[in-house]
Amino acid sequence: MTVTLLIQNARILLPSGEFISGDVSIAGDRIAQVADTILPTAGVQTIDAAGQTLLPGVIDPQVHFRDPGLEHKEDLYTASRACARGGVTSYLEMPNTQPLTTTQATLDAKLKLASERSLVNYGFFIGATPENLPDLRTAQPTPGIKIFMGSAHGALLVDTETAIEPIFAEGDRLIAVHAENQARILARRQQFAGRSDPKVHSEIQDAQAALEATQLALRLSKKYRRRLHILHLSTAEEAGLLRQDKPDWVTAEVTPQHLLLNTAAYEAIGTLAQMNPPLRSPHDNQVLWQALLDGVIDFIATDHAPHTLAEKGKGYPASPSGMPGVETSLPLMLTQAMQGRCTVAQVANWMSTAVAKAYQIPNKGAIAPGYDADLVLIDLKTYRPVLRHELQTKCGWSPFEGWNLTGWPSLTLVAGQVVFDHGHFNDTVRGRPLQFEAG
Ligand code: DOR
Repeated sequence: MTVTLLIQNARILLPSGEFISGDVSIAGDRIAQVADTILPTAGVQTIDAAGQTLLPGVIDPQVHFRDPGLEHKEDLYTASRACARGGVTSYLEMPNTQPLTTTQATLDAKLKLASERSLVNYGFFIGATPENLPDLRTAQPTPGIKIFMGSAHGALLVDTETAIEPIFAEGDRLIAVHAENQARILARRQQFAGRSDPKVHSEIQDAQAALEATQLALRLSKKYRRRLHILHLSTAEEAGLLRQDKPDWVTAEVTPQHLLLNTAAYEAIGTLAQMNPPLRSPHDNQVLWQALLDGVIDFIATDHAPHTLAEKGKGYPASPSGMPGVETSLPLMLTQAMQGRCTVAQVANWMSTAVAKAYQIPNKGAIAPGYDADLVLIDLKTYRPVLRHELQTKCGWSPFEGWNLTGWPSLTLVAGQVVFDHGHFNDTVRGRPLQFEAG
């Protein structure tokens, strides 16, 4: 095993959650050794990480990267550059591209595109339609099945119990749900017709709409003992439900937006704050934080969903829902840690270790010998604002512009290769397809 890279003098997060001051050697794509001191062999590249913290690379388990078909918003190259800058070394991407990812052929085509364009590692959900059960059972490799129970249109909308139940009944792979009750949303859209202030978005797609869909998904998951993941949990009511009743085969995630933004954001940034499920109240922020701290919510996803400023500028309700997130999520959460809201080790667990465990991605989510060398070196001393002109996402904006954050990555490694180094990118690096042990 020939050492190819040596990171020296870092504050290293160990799998135990403790930190040591020491060195990490890398041989090819894997971590070789973690120790107080590792002597460099002749000719080996060394990185002096004094004063910086080394964490396992972020695995973002819910992103929309728009490629193929919607490349005017984002593509796998620009999105993965944003990932590299944000310390995200792997992502799980959603099927609402054009064509939709609902068959083995469309999944294969996306994997091929990613092998050509993505600087970081990738995995792709297979999208449920009312009629693709055979594809849902057999498509490979995939982290699981995505069901849009609401907030979608066209073939990906599976919004009745009659259509949803057979998906839970057949097969055993993970089902990830966007839980909003479409019937309630449609009825309330009528009720609130004529209002065009974006704040009404949170009233139309209210907490009850989210709760009803989460209740249905949970009921079906229990009926068939089916592995269920609840995407972007957004309300105090859903957190309360899971606190009472969460079988051990169910997981849930929350986004930084639902932790850190609320309906007050509409006044500040208008339709840029519009997403599905919508932003909620400060009370919801607080309850979601507590649920995360208590383990009721298992991990964090960004739901990176870029739209152009021109699209967002159309005005509600013509403006599309979604916000970008991959290049700000880690600094946002680490800034919270530095403010005492949680620990750095908890952030690494929620953004890497727990995700690898839930999706059964082998050899990721920890800094230990034999694990993949997907790593991020961060600076927890310097604060820098989120600046529009530095963003790598093609949409070119962030709901967090102006926020002064710490924990920005200085170096990101994918499979032992430096892909981002103090503002510079190595565009020749390509990520790898993720494997899923249960897939
Ligand atoms: O706000 C959202 N936008 N939520 C989703 O679930 C989909 C996404 C998109 O693709 O734009």
